[in-house]
Amino acid sequence: MAETQGILMPLIQSECQILKNYRDRGGYEAAKKALSMTPDEVIQEVQASNLRGLGGAGFPTGRKWAFVPKNSPKPVYLVVNCDESEPGTFKDKYIITKATHALIEGIIIASYAIGAHTAYIYIRGEYVRQAEVLEQAIQEAYDNGILGKKVLGKDYALDVYVHRGAGAYICGEETALLESLEGKKGWPRMKPPFPAIEGLFRCPTIVNNVETLSYVPFIIKNGARWFAEMGTERSGGMRLYCVSGHVNKPGVYELPVTTTLREIIYEHAGGVPGNKKIKAVVPGGSSSPPLRPEELDVPAEFDALMKLGTMAGSGGIIVMDEDTCLLEILTVTTHFYHHESCGQCTPCREGTGWMDKILHRMLHGEGRIEDVDHLEEIANGIMGNTICPLGDAAAMPVLGYLKRFREEFESHALYKKCFDGEFAELKAAS
Ligand SMILES: Cc1cc2nc3c(=O)[nH]c(=O)nc-3n(C[C@H](O)[C@H](O)[C@H](O)COP(=O)(O)O)c2cc1C
Repeated sequence: MAETQGILMPLIQSECQILKNYRDRGGYEAAKKALSMTPDEVIQEVQASNLRGLGGAGFPTGRKWAFVPKNSPKPVYLVVNCDESEPGTFKDKYIITKATHALIEGIIIASYAIGAHTAYIYIRGEYVRQAEVLEQAIQEAYDNGILGKKVLGKDYALDVYVHRGAGAYICGEETALLESLEGKKGWPRMKPPFPAIEGLFRCPTIVNNVETLSYVPFIIKNGARWFAEMGTERSGGMRLYCVSGHVNKPGVYELPVTTTLREIIYEHAGGVPGNKKIKAVVPGGSSSPPLRPEELDVPAEFDALMKLGTMAGSGGIIVMDEDTCLLEILTVTTHFYHHESCGQCTPCREGTGWMDKILHRMLHGEGRIEDVDHLEEIANGIMGNTICPLGDAAAMPVLGYLKRFREEFESHALYKKCFDGEFAELKAAS
């Protein structure tokens, strides 16, 4: 943790898993304010803030809440996604262990806005200690009249439960998560119907990421405009960037979404060890296509990165220096997605395995030049042809690395070594 500015970072640094610390910083005042507004007013405020889903897809949060049918005869649920499994992503962990009460306050406000009286936090199985901290904070909230039959003394009831997953990446996908929460195998559902209409136990459900919900109290407290003005026309506020790989100061940095990748890497994360050059940067978790070093002046924001054919995703920025073997990186990445494919859809189940095998073969010096086109063909066969976007998450890195760093893979196929800048000469001579 290197920064003290920001919205959530000061809470993380002042141990706001303890109620007193959070209250000392104005905690739960926003929930009181929200409970004196109408649910629609709360939704409108969140909508006007341009808060976007920080779990990966970047869908506008207020707009998603507005999809929940009004006066539903069925119960409405809020489900908090704390599966945090995208490689390169480690921000939610800090929120649930150190800014826990901000999350609980966000859950209260969101639940009230959508008409839910039950919220579930689905937390990845590996977060054992984190789940304990979460349970303790929730208990403290119950003990102090913050949760339960009369939330903060108002005529509104809310129960919050923690549900631990069993270590499957696919259960971060919202519909697989709902299946898992229902006690079934984590197989994604076809959409539509979307969870807001038919989600948990076939009832209207909003699934939101931990970080997304943790910003909500501050939007209610300081106003939508305050949050919107920190960002761009369509993305408000700040977000937590997880910076890993070849940087001097890896960690979590909370910055306005207008901050460029170059600023994040060089001004905040301390640049590259040994002043080496950057070869590639993955901007939003391992499923987002990598960028070349000359492309880093782009804001690390949903729309700006999408224009470059990649994604802001979960905010996981992975920096690779000039000595990194990109074949090795893509092989490890693809192996992960193959291992985590739930197997429900043939293109993903088989395609990820084929790509994994080809890449492993190339890595072991047995690549053929036609492998490069073949990988592309398989990835294109997966893209858009599966029930959930795990297939896309596996195909996008393959297509992305081949689009921007094709020479690296051709060099391995032809010469069994990383591209060293003399490819053209080698190719001409071969
Ligand atoms: C394969 C896969 C894994 C995902 N893993 C996570 C995750 O670990 N955490 C998360 O918040 N969202 C994850 N998502 C995104 C969720 O499906 C969903 O969009 C998100 O929880 C919605 O919350 P938000 O609108 O606040 O971002 C994943 C999506 C896919 C396709």
